[in-house]
Amino acid sequence: MSRKLHIEVFRYNPLDPASVPHMQSFYVEEYSSMTLFIALNIIREQQDPSLQFDFCCRAGICGSCGMVINGRPGLACHTQTRDLPDHIVLHPLPVFKLLGDLSVDTGVWFREVGRKIEAWVHTQDKAFDPRAEEKRMENELAEQIFELDRCIECGCCIAACGTARMRKDFLGAATINRLARFYIDPRDNRSEDEYYDVIGNDQGVFGCMGLLGCEDVCPKKIPLQDQLGIMRRMLALKSVKGILPKALYEKFKGCGSHCHS
Ligand code: SF4
Ligand code: SF4
Ligand code: FES
Repeated sequence: MSRKLHIEVFRYNPLDPASVPHMQSFYVEEYSSMTLFIALNIIREQQDPSLQFDFCCRAGICGSCGMVINGRPGLACHTQTRDLPDHIVLHPLPVFKLLGDLSVDTGVWFREVGRKIEAWVHTQDKAFDPRAEEKRMENELAEQIFELDRCIECGCCIAACGTARMRKDFLGAATINRLARFYIDPRDNRSEDEYYDVIGNDQGVFGCMGLLGCEDVCPKKIPLQDQLGIMRRMLALKSVKGILPKALYEKFKGCGSHCHS
């Protein structure tokens, strides 16, 4: 028997001085394989066209539809209503700028942190030559880099992060994951000192409380803690570099495919 879903949605338009934050209830008949994204569309099409929420791909690819679903950040298009109770409470993702109702601006946030960590390959190579043969890379390493590039910048890990909620300048797991992607990329010529300068502080890995909220909610199942671990290890090794005997240091370092000087 189908259920009648009670969907309670946070409503607020920051551009309207008369708007006051409040919760509004909607009721939707559930059908099999209904996603939360579909339920919200039904509400917008049949009950309230002013309801604001974001979507683009409907397939867990664009990262637009992140929201807090019964207290837990997740993607509306990836969430089946049958996996939720019949009372569903929706809030916008915290940390990001609220545009209205469930819609937040993750783009500006990710662009800003990308600029802070200089999220591009730093190379001494001269200008790009389109006729040059592509540089070869071991498959295994290419796959590791690809694994770190799967982030869709949905913001769920940032919204779930206690440190990001407390510190506006915390880079967050997705950003540290992004930096790890460049760290293992042999085309990136940044030194460990340069990496240390970017994340060897409270804005980076030292601000992380390690409680795994980020990894728990990641819809792409990116092993965020592994990446935080890699970067922590790199920073720890850097801080003992002058103390440990060279042979021991190299043994612990063991960074395999790519070592920064
Ligand atoms: S483990 Fe670190 S980055 Fe992840 S949610 Fe906790 S504090 Fe944030
Ligand atoms: S790491 Fe996962 S949760 Fe965080 S922004 Fe990327 S896809 Fe979303
Ligand atoms: S609509 Fe693109 S991830 Fe949900």
